[in-house]
Amino acid sequence: MTKLGDHLAACIRLDGPMPVSRFMATALGHPQWGYYTTRDPLGRTGDFITAPEISQMFGELIGLWCAERWQALGAPNPFILAELGPGRGTLMADALRAGRALPGFNQAAQVHLVEISPILRTAQKSALGNRLVNWHDRVADLPPGPTIAIANEFFDALPIRQFQRGEDGWHERMVGHRDGRLCLLLDPGITPTAPLPATIQQAPGGAIVEISPARTNAMAALAQILVNHGGGALIIDYGHGESAVGDTLQAMQAHEFVDFLEAPGLADLTAHVDFQALGEAARRAGAWTFGPVTQTSFLNQLGIAARAGVLQQSATEAQARTIRAALHRLTDQDQMGQLFKVMSVMASDDDRPPGFAEV
Ligand SMILES: C[S@@+](CC[C@H](N)C(=O)[O-])C[C@H]1O[C@@H](n2cnc3c(N)ncnc32)[C@H](O)[C@@H]1O
Repeated sequence: MTKLGDHLAACIRLDGPMPVSRFMATALGHPQWGYYTTRDPLGRTGDFITAPEISQMFGELIGLWCAERWQALGAPNPFILAELGPGRGTLMADALRAGRALPGFNQAAQVHLVEISPILRTAQKSALGNRLVNWHDRVADLPPGPTIAIANEFFDALPIRQFQRGEDGWHERMVGHRDGRLCLLLDPGITPTAPLPATIQQAPGGAIVEISPARTNAMAALAQILVNHGGGALIIDYGHGESAVGDTLQAMQAHEFVDFLEAPGLADLTAHVDFQALGEAARRAGAWTFGPVTQTSFLNQLGIAARAGVLQQSATEAQARTIRAALHRLTDQDQMGQLFKVMSVMASDDDRPPGFAEV
């Protein structure tokens, strides 16, 4: 077992089985042995690849979306340009470069990043060059002020709780330790149905449902900032538009799925995002939501095909092939286009943000 596995086993011996959420939070964020605290996991040589690492087009279009929203807000100077879980800083760097198209946008932007990984903070600093950047541990720590925020594959990394329906009601799935290995078991106590989405409380026996207080808390904190100070946010992630049953917890190492209990701290752990729950959390805080729409629809509305065409004009044949492959990967229904969804959270419903036209 890994050092983190031994640590988790010791915690379970002392305190009993732990909810999946505590296992996930520890595996990803433990200060000494956590997955995100000990490595840069992105890219072809890492464990997974994300949209901004596939192509500059992704960050550029999002930068233009932010610039348009800034203008719609009345071009406040200064304003907070925030990113949650910025990875290597690639998306923000591409967004700021594209944002130069709108005079005043870059100068007015104060960049604030929410990031737990010290290693990725270093990568972000180098991606953003001499730009002044402020880092925070939590969304709730972002400063007051008009805010435009982006989050790509941030919410899927926040811990989830899982419940399974038995004959007598819902039981929480826990991580225990047996015969020298971590294992999954069900808490014998019955869970009151109140915290579970109303639409799935009548699911059949054996069904698994996931909820994430960590995600709804982060979303509520973000929406509160937007409602209090004005602004908007763009949330991009893989998941479903409506709450549904299913076990979506997955572990990934070197671009392959692995057993999530096998090597805690060495594999990325994620679960699909329930956009219905996220949207409800934002609306409860008084914000308005648009979407979710599919990534295909969002990027097409923002003009990704035209941007690819412009880039290809000055590209070599090999570069043009790479651009076409990236366009396909980002927008094809069988690639990232359908599974990935985009939702916007706004302080008001004055106007519909770009990318969310009803098509
Ligand atoms: C899957 S990566 C996405 C990176 C980037 N947005 C991209 O698209 O390339 C998740 C990011 O969220 C950060 N992260 C994960 N859990 C976090 C938490 N609880 N608080 C703050 N940042 C977190 C990770 O360190 C990483 O930067």
